[in-house]
Order: sequence, then C-alpha cells, then structure tokens
Amino acid sequence: MRRKIVAGNWKMNKSVIDAQQLMVQLLSYKNNHTPNCEVWIAPPALYLMMAKDIFEKDEIGIFAQDMSEHESGAYTGEISADMLESIDATGSLIGHSERRQYHGETDSHCNRKIKLALDKGLIPVYCNGETLEQRKAGEHFEVVKNQTEVALFTLSAEEIRKVVIAYEPVWAIGTGETASPEQAQEIHAHIRSTIAAKYGQEVADEISILYGGSVKPDNAREIFSQPDIDGGLIGGAALKLEDFSRIIEAFQS
Ligand code: PGA
Repeated sequence: MRRKIVAGNWKMNKSVIDAQQLMVQLLSYKNNHTPNCEVWIAPPALYLMMAKDIFEKDEIGIFAQDMSEHESGAYTGEISADMLESIDATGSLIGHSERRQYHGETDSHCNRKIKLALDKGLIPVYCNGETLEQRKAGEHFEVVKNQTEVALFTLSAEEIRKVVIAYEPVWAIGTGETASPEQAQEIHAHIRSTIAAKYGQEVADEISILYGGSVKPDNAREIFSQPDIDGGLIGGAALKLEDFSRIIEAFQS
C-alpha cells in the first residue's frame, strides 16, 4: 500500500516564536484527531531541533527543506545527511523548484543528494515539475520523464521504493493557479509509468507521488481523490493550522 501524506513546506517563513506556536498547535491537533494520512513538516533548518523536541518520534515527520550533495567538510552554509540523521530527522525535500531557480540545482545534484539521503536512512522527497514555458510548448511530459530518469534511475529497485516524489508544476507554486485534478493526474500516471518501464509495475505502484502547487482547503479533496495522487506538498496553506488541518482532513472520507 502506498503511503498517503500531507507535507507542509514552510519555506523561509516564521520567527522562532511563531514556528514554536504552530508546532504546538499541530501537536495538539494530532493528539485530538486521527488523520487518514501521515503528516510531515519541513520547517527552516534552524527549527528542526525544536521540532524534534516538540514531537514524539513518528508523530509528525520532520524534514529539512534541502540538504548538501556533499558528505561533510568545507561547504559553508550547508547541512549534511549525516547531521540530519544525527538529529533523527525523517528526511529532506530535494530539488524543490525554488532551489533549482535560485540556486542552480539540477537533476544531477538531486541524484547525488537522493543517494546520500537513502544511505543515511532518510526519506528523500524528490520534487520535479515543468515551467510555464515548457507546458505552453507541450513539453511537460518529456520534461518530467527526463527529470525522473536523471534524478532516480541510478537507484536500485530497493532504493527507489523508499523515495517519495512531489510533482510541482512551477507555474502553480505560490501563484494561486493550481493544475486541474485531471492535469495533475495525467502527469502522476506518466511518472508512475516511467518508473514502471524501468523497475516494473509492482515497484512503481508502491511509490507515493504527491502533488504540490497552490493546494488549498477547498481544492485538496478533489486533487487527492485522483488515483495516482497520494497526497500533497503544501506551501502557503501549511503556515496556518486552520488551513493545513482542513487539507489533512481532505483524506478523512
Ligand atoms: P504553494 O507551494 O502551496 O504555496 O504553491 C508549494 C510548494 O512550493 O511546495
């Protein structure tokens, strides 16, 4: 069975006090509800230790928003897979489009990061998706297939089973414009069949593929009801418990 996941990407938001407040609210929400999905958060790296202190193990998945492609050493500003493992983090987002856009990350970088994360027992959440220009040019299927192959296809079948993929069309991130459930579903199915062609259907069927890009309380249910969509990576709407909890509850029935 594929895991169902709602993950919140906090990006570069919140003071330490505000971050603590939202974590405490989430804890109390989790104590009073039994969601039908796993709940993960990716707060700024500075607050990961605090998250580990607030949540019991396995209560909420704790993810970094990025990690280094290098193991250790003179890489100022970076955090390593080893460091994440040492604080017992659950995993890391890898290849978010904002990392690609502002920090020049490519799928080859993602490939190295994913391998390092897996070697340390961390769950990589590999993000991909096409730009508006690529979609307008009708290249979206090819772009996403190519991203998936470069970032993931050096992995063994055993390794790729542990990866979570987040399809996030760049034109839908933070823009208020969402892919329609049908547009998202067809790309999710395409990613799954790309993986099935190399690793077989059984492996492909085990991989959770999340959708990200302007998921909100009022569109989450329809998006999550698609057969190849296993949850969401939520940006803006993860910053308030009221919105985030309603998205979690889109899995309720
Ligand atoms: P958004 O961000 O929900 O604010 O569009 C999603 C993401 O970047 O992961």
